[in-house]
Amino acid sequence: MRTRMVAGNWKMNKNLQEGVALATELKEAVKNPNCAVVIGTPFIHLATVAELLKGSAIKVAAENCADHEKGAYTGEVSAEMVKSTGAEYVILGHSERRQYYAESYEMLAEKTRLALANGLKVIFCIGEVKEEREAGKQNEVVKAQLEGSVFGLSAEEWKNITLAYEPVWAIGTGLTATPAQAQEIHAYIRGLVAEKYGKAAADDTTILYGGSCNEKNAAELFACPDIDGGLIGGAALVAEKFLAIIAAR
Ligand code: 13P
Repeated sequence: MRTRMVAGNWKMNKNLQEGVALATELKEAVKNPNCAVVIGTPFIHLATVAELLKGSAIKVAAENCADHEKGAYTGEVSAEMVKSTGAEYVILGHSERRQYYAESYEMLAEKTRLALANGLKVIFCIGEVKEEREAGKQNEVVKAQLEGSVFGLSAEEWKNITLAYEPVWAIGTGLTATPAQAQEIHAYIRGLVAEKYGKAAADDTTILYGGSCNEKNAAELFACPDIDGGLIGGAALVAEKFLAIIAAR
């Protein structure tokens, strides 16, 4: 049985004190979740929040890492540094990083390689923009994203990959993909993984849905056979909402 998961992505929200307060609230409330629970925080929160959540049911993720191992890259944070904070995951390939920071397939392949080499698990995001969906190109877009960055991984490395399908037109817009739309492409993605790594590996791959997933629509999305959980933005910033999404999984 593959892992079910609800992961939060705080993005560039909450200062350190606010982040610690939210993590504390979540820690107290999440005792025996029926799925894996991960929170993705800004770099500056990682060490503090990882220490706070040590031994709890909640794991911590970075929202990015560098595409270089170490050295003269002012302002960058390496995968090894992320790992040293106690974080276990890193979110890579988010559409906001692809769009605003020009992260290419090659760069993301390198970030993924470095993250895995440093013992991190990767939540790898894929998804099409509105124009691509309207042109019916969503399948070819996600296929190219997978082939361009992560399908070069070995079968052993693949075990540490969680996928997140996040249609860009649904992120922060309140426009959620319908369960039918999400299920259809999740099944397609799982099929691609099966072609590449075999059916057993595909059956074991966790595929999250992200994009205006909230406490109201989560249960319906999670009821779909190929949707294993969610990657949550806005609703992960409010304990009550994030907890309701965890409960829906
Ligand atoms: P929203 O839940 O705010 O739409 O964001 C989704 C997302 O980008 C998670 O990574």
